[in-house]
Amino acid sequence: MILVTGATGFIASHTIVELQNNGFDIVGIDNLCNSSVSVLDNIQKITGKKIEFSNIDIRDKDALKNFLSGYKIDTCIHFAGLKAVGESVAKPVEYYDNNISGTISLLKVLNEIGCKNIIFSSSATVYGIPAFVPITEECPKGICTNPYGWTKHMIEQILVDTQKANPDMNIVILRYFNPVGAHPSGLIGENPNGIPNNLMPYITQVACGKREKLFVYGNDYDTPDGTGVRDYIHVVDLARGHVCAMSAIDKKCGLEIFNLGTGHGYSVLDVINTFEKVNNIKIPYEITARRPGDIAMCYANPEKAKRVLGWVAEHSLDDMCRDSWNYQNNLNV
Ligand code: NAD
Ligand code: WQD
Repeated sequence: MILVTGATGFIASHTIVELQNNGFDIVGIDNLCNSSVSVLDNIQKITGKKIEFSNIDIRDKDALKNFLSGYKIDTCIHFAGLKAVGESVAKPVEYYDNNISGTISLLKVLNEIGCKNIIFSSSATVYGIPAFVPITEECPKGICTNPYGWTKHMIEQILVDTQKANPDMNIVILRYFNPVGAHPSGLIGENPNGIPNNLMPYITQVACGKREKLFVYGNDYDTPDGTGVRDYIHVVDLARGHVCAMSAIDKKCGLEIFNLGTGHGYSVLDVINTFEKVNNIKIPYEITARRPGDIAMCYANPEKAKRVLGWVAEHSLDDMCRDSWNYQNNLNV
């Protein structure tokens, strides 16, 4: 059985769909600080399968151990964490506590229940200003520009040291690039609280009239059209990456790190233009100043995941824009 932490969140919900469709049994936990329990019903509508679930904070070691003692957990896929970059600058202690203390509490419980396999949600943010693009896993980790990034950086180190001390453990660190899109059913997707930090949810909220216009943060970067370039990846492709990572766990991989990206960089204007073309909606925008902490260009070399896991991202930017809009539309009905 697989334990999924942060189970009702954006990426975990899509991953549970792919895992269930591949025959895995899931037990999920989440403290619902950034998601809703209704997500579970929507997952069930897609897969026809139930998920064992409990509302637990990963920092609550006793509750966690108590709940998990009822199951035989072979692998934990650890998504739970706070992820808002700006908020992490304002509330660093909350972020370090939630993400790092939470992971340490989880690791202690996993050790106590004899679970030796972990897949962890890391981020391309650990590369800081990347030393080179496309970014391979050998690219040195950089200086993070915010506490959120440092939590990923530090948790990776904790996991590396934990696996080194326990060579019978298998730990896969997945560095996600920019997840967007939604399940094509429109039943699950990303629905951020408040003003979205990320580009795609901001665009869908402009498209539905919730916000007046998009602010494009800078057009004077050293990129083809001057706006920031990122590796946007469809969340369903990302979710499949976790199913493929299970094969590395099966092969007793020890410690492995994989980039999960498409290998293609798109600018902010590329995303706006594609969204407008695919969905036939105009996105009003205004160029404003650069956002502090942003980098010019970030995209993956995903060759290692292809070679070792047999994983390749299949969805296009058109698919990402269409599915993001489909999900936003479903929210509004
Ligand atoms: P999300 O906020 O939708 O999901 C995270 C889930 O974790 C939420 O449901 C939240 O309620 C839960 N959670 C938070 N703290 C918890 C705690 N202490 N105990 C139990 N549950 C807790 O975010 P997401 O986009 O699905 O991200 C999932 C993971 O992937 C996170 O670790 C995030 O840092 C990482 N990641 C996300 C992105 C991205 O752009 N979305 C990119 C790279 C990495
Ligand atoms: C993408 C591009 C912006 C919003 C963040 C985190 C990273 C990871 C993914 C978790 C940039 C531009 C954005 C807007 C804009 N998360 N933009 N107007 O910054 O690449 O990555 O999410 O690990 O850690 O930092 O993603 O979607 O915020 O921005 O012009 O309203 O869109 O400047 O070029 P980012 P993003």
